[in-house]
Amino acid sequence: MFGRIKSLDAILATAQKKSLHRSLGWLQLTLLGIGCVIGTGIFVLTAVGAQKAGPGLMLAFAIAGAVCIVAALCYAEIAAMIPVAGSAYTYTYATIGEFFAWTVGWALIMEYAIAAAAVSVGWSGYFTGTILDEYLGIHLPASLIAGPLALGGAEGGFINLPALVIALLVSGLLILGTSESAKFNTVLVAIKVTALTAFIALTFTSPEWSAEKFNPFLPAGVFGGFGTGLGAVGAAATMFFAYVGFDAVSTAAEETKNPQRNVPIGLVGSLLFCTVFYILVAAGAIGTLGGQPIMGGAGIPLEAGSAELARQCAMPEHSEALVCSKEALAHVLRTIGFSSVGNMLGVAAFLALPSVILVLIFGQTRIFFVMSRDGLLPEVLSTVHPRFKTPHVVTMITGVAVALGAAFFPVGQLADISNAGTLYAFLMVAVAVMMLRRTDPDRLRSFRVPAVWIVAPMTIFGCVFLFLNLPSSAMLFLPAWTLLGLVVYFLYSRSHSHLGRGIVEVVDDVVGEETMMPIHPPQ
Ligand code: ALA
Repeated sequence: MFGRIKSLDAILATAQKKSLHRSLGWLQLTLLGIGCVIGTGIFVLTAVGAQKAGPGLMLAFAIAGAVCIVAALCYAEIAAMIPVAGSAYTYTYATIGEFFAWTVGWALIMEYAIAAAAVSVGWSGYFTGTILDEYLGIHLPASLIAGPLALGGAEGGFINLPALVIALLVSGLLILGTSESAKFNTVLVAIKVTALTAFIALTFTSPEWSAEKFNPFLPAGVFGGFGTGLGAVGAAATMFFAYVGFDAVSTAAEETKNPQRNVPIGLVGSLLFCTVFYILVAAGAIGTLGGQPIMGGAGIPLEAGSAELARQCAMPEHSEALVCSKEALAHVLRTIGFSSVGNMLGVAAFLALPSVILVLIFGQTRIFFVMSRDGLLPEVLSTVHPRFKTPHVVTMITGVAVALGAAFFPVGQLADISNAGTLYAFLMVAVAVMMLRRTDPDRLRSFRVPAVWIVAPMTIFGCVFLFLNLPSSAMLFLPAWTLLGLVVYFLYSRSHSHLGRGIVEVVDDVVGEETMMPIHPPQ
């Protein structure tokens, strides 16, 4: 059952044939990282994180950032060594074998598709709050901007219409073959970084800012208890979402000049930059508006995305609360007297978040595509559109699934579920790095994780720790989803697997150079 391991030599032989031009320096890599990473996490989930941890949100950003930095080092080694499509799924196929590769691929569906849904919901908050309400004076009814479902208590809407529409629009663009060029990415990074820098500058110099607002710093403690999703570590498990996306950058390792030096600088540098930035943004928001959670009866913070929290937020005394806002950062600026800058920040989020959705949906279609070319999913999924040359079938299916998730679930829960899948994939990458050091010690590694026997176990520990601190509903989603995956594997994939049927065929590209990962710069 565990014997099907794809030959690394065969995978690499194909990769060498393609041999991409090494053109990326550390700065471009760092910009790619920042472009994929900054999104709904900081712009929207700041409110959710504050509801879980209060001012301890700052600690949460530091904990989640630390886990991601050790995971990024593992990604850097394996991505530079196996620079092929499919990310953690392919790495696992080449080291641990098909069965676990299947579970990773299946979990990556949770990462990418559900993350794309979460970012769509985040975008919806800024679109309705800034573009519709502030600029156009159009007020959509509450039932059309929130979903009816939630694991454990609904927010009370009927459908999140803007989130549904943006997910379908972005998928449509991907079917037409839109890709994001490096130049466009740089412009979006500049917009996001400028907006967040302005936020930090204005909040820190505001007369509203006071150190008093950080008291009590940990209203829900450091540990809220496993499965509760509360406290600083509970918030860290959610805010982990704010760093997701750097793993997409690891696929650019093959195109990096002097990868031994530039890949770790790019991956770790972009994460360090984001970590510091996020902590400053959190300090600015909490220092001006305060960030205490709204407590339930037992003195425990109410669950983010729950009906009770939505009810409390509708009360006049909470109308300004950070934890109630769907466009947290713009709301802070407006409340402390910078309405027009707040609206500009809202426009920045409105412009930049769709590109994060694009990268995530693209990542998803690529994983599906590789799995289907390996025979583990039906081959119809890898059909390429004759005119657009894009995998339109799989993009359409993904787009509809993402749109439905975005239409019906709240952002915090989508992010938590996505995190559960991502943490599993990160963990398997750390395992794969250690296994390859043992099974294939002499193969050329253009980047080696320093102190791998400490860094990789730390990654595994960090992933398990964050996973256990997710709310139990999100945590349980992973085994339930995996169980479904196992049914599909044993009923379909195992018998259709190309490797299992002895077809040695290696595909390291999806549909040709022109639709490669959108973050790749023009050659
Ligand atoms: N890290 C990305 C975001 O925060 C997914 O939106």
